[in-house]
Amino acid sequence: MITKLVISDLKRMKETGEKIACLTSYDASFARLQDEAGIDVLLVGDSLGMVLHGDKSTRNVTMDDMIYHTRLVNNVRQRALVISDMPYQSYTSTELAVGNAKRLVNEGGADIVKLEGGEEISDIITAIKNIDIPVCGHLGLTPQSFSTSDGFKVQATTEDAAEKLKQDALLIQQAGCDCMVFECIPAEVAKEVTQALNIPTIGIGAGVDCDGQVLVLHDMLGITGKKFRFLKNFLKGNDSITDAIKTYISEVKNKSFPASEHFF
Ligand code: KIV
Repeated sequence: MITKLVISDLKRMKETGEKIACLTSYDASFARLQDEAGIDVLLVGDSLGMVLHGDKSTRNVTMDDMIYHTRLVNNVRQRALVISDMPYQSYTSTELAVGNAKRLVNEGGADIVKLEGGEEISDIITAIKNIDIPVCGHLGLTPQSFSTSDGFKVQATTEDAAEKLKQDALLIQQAGCDCMVFECIPAEVAKEVTQALNIPTIGIGAGVDCDGQVLVLHDMLGITGKKFRFLKNFLKGNDSITDAIKTYISEVKNKSFPASEHFF
């Protein structure tokens, strides 16, 4: 009998120092492999707009897209938690955000909904938490802010910007976030803010001291051919997708991924 992880397991992992292994997931076939390989969290990211649809940004992804892909992943996962992205302009008011968060949970089966932004969305985070839906924040590089990937650059590189990120992180934690993604920020900034928070952080391009790691599945399998500094192709040296995912999980857990060559 497989026991499904719950949010308190992520908090326990932060406390005990066990790293959280997360990958994006968009369909049942991959979700089954990922879940059976032992992934802790499946992120149905709005990166699916770029990865699956071939768009130049995540901005065309709709609520119906997110519900559809979340449902496919939720249909087969047995152990992993499912975080699902609230897409661009689906949380521009508290009323809209609450309705859409309910849809992701009720129609898609998400455990946690993820929103990009800091202080400016803290009321929205609180409104979603008030209806008992867990929330994941997303700071640093927030892809919904850009209409093409040209804007995708390392964030929080100045002292002021790093301090702003820290204040945003503390504010959205206070607003009710249960966990937080840090995307493309200097490793030292991610380390300091992770230590200042009570909730787990999951990094992508944010060094090894976040409480967990996430990569886009199709990037870490070498399918998209992207060559970002923070990426590693886990299919290299492995004979199967399952083995590549297992290697990723074990390198995250034993802290050998990300290595310093992947940091900013
Ligand atoms: O949409 C996504 O896949 C994400 C990750 C890159 C963190 O938000």
